[in-house]
Amino acid sequence: MSKRISLTQYLVEQQRRHGRITAELRLLIEVVARACKRIAISVNKGALGEVLGSASSENVQGEVQKKLDIISNEVLIEANEWGGHLAAMASEEMDTIHVVPNRYPQGEYLLLFDPLDGSSNIDVNVSIGTIFSVLRKVNNQRGVSEEDFLQPGKQQAAAGYCVYGPQTTLVLTLGEGVMVFTLDREQGSFVLTQEDLRIPEDTREFAINMSNQRHWAAPVTRYIDECLAGKEGPRGKDFNMRWVASMVADVHRIMTRGGVFLYPWDKREPDKPGKLRLMYEANPMAFLIEQAGGAASNGSQRIMDITPAKLHERVSVILGSKNEVQRAVSYHLEAPSD
Ligand code: AHG
Ligand code: MN
Ligand code: MN
Repeated sequence: MSKRISLTQYLVEQQRRHGRITAELRLLIEVVARACKRIAISVNKGALGEVLGSASSENVQGEVQKKLDIISNEVLIEANEWGGHLAAMASEEMDTIHVVPNRYPQGEYLLLFDPLDGSSNIDVNVSIGTIFSVLRKVNNQRGVSEEDFLQPGKQQAAAGYCVYGPQTTLVLTLGEGVMVFTLDREQGSFVLTQEDLRIPEDTREFAINMSNQRHWAAPVTRYIDECLAGKEGPRGKDFNMRWVASMVADVHRIMTRGGVFLYPWDKREPDKPGKLRLMYEANPMAFLIEQAGGAASNGSQRIMDITPAKLHERVSVILGSKNEVQRAVSYHLEAPSD
């Protein structure tokens, strides 16, 4: 069997041999991976670790927080505060940004995360995950504010997710392809298990919450209706459907065997662009998907081209196999605007 490369070795090589990443970014990724290992331990303990169930609090989006949402957020903050690689962090679970305290050196990077994605699946023992996005602090004046975070996703220096499923898997991009690392529990380290992951351009599998069907806009209804019509319909082929309700798990399946994922705008709350959050859910996933040869759009615009107006901005999401995303987007572009 050929020798396996650890995440540490991979990152050192990226920094030393290829000069692709700075020492600070290398440390940042290592620290995030270490935090994910700690979160994985809590997830695995489940009821034994008394980590299941809800906390008695709500986050800034008005969602009831689960104990693991809060634990994972704290693990990521604590792990990343002291290394000198970050200026500030932002999270789904915090109203405002968390600036690195004065007692530690400030670095040039900004880290955003969804500490625990798929919260509704925690208590039922279904795959969940952590999503993260790395930006550079563009202005190099002293101090850091929320404004520094409001950059389009195309400016991400790195992004990734860790899925806590049957295996704990870290999927990472530094802007030159997508690498997959599997946690070796005996060794306690992430090991490179797939290089340059590519998503098939075509697919017969879609992921959408069908219970919202009656609220969708016409282009989404058209796209899904055509998939459902199968061999006899305009697509001339049968489609399968999957919906895990953990974006991490749905995206990981698409990364592995292709597919298209939609969480579109709908009529229930017309003023809200969508459910998913742009900066720590859609952007990192869009970066990974594009780096693997797929596409990610909000129906009219590439997700990574959107300049956010606020930290917790939401967005409509269509991502995955390129040809399928392009088709769904073309239906949006053809639809009469009202
Ligand atoms: P989170 O648990 O971080 O709030 O994210 C949940 C998101 C996403 O992971 C998933 O795709 C979607 O919500 C599921 O939404 P529905 O319950 O509406 O299907
Ligand atoms: Mn999420
Ligand atoms: Mn979350």
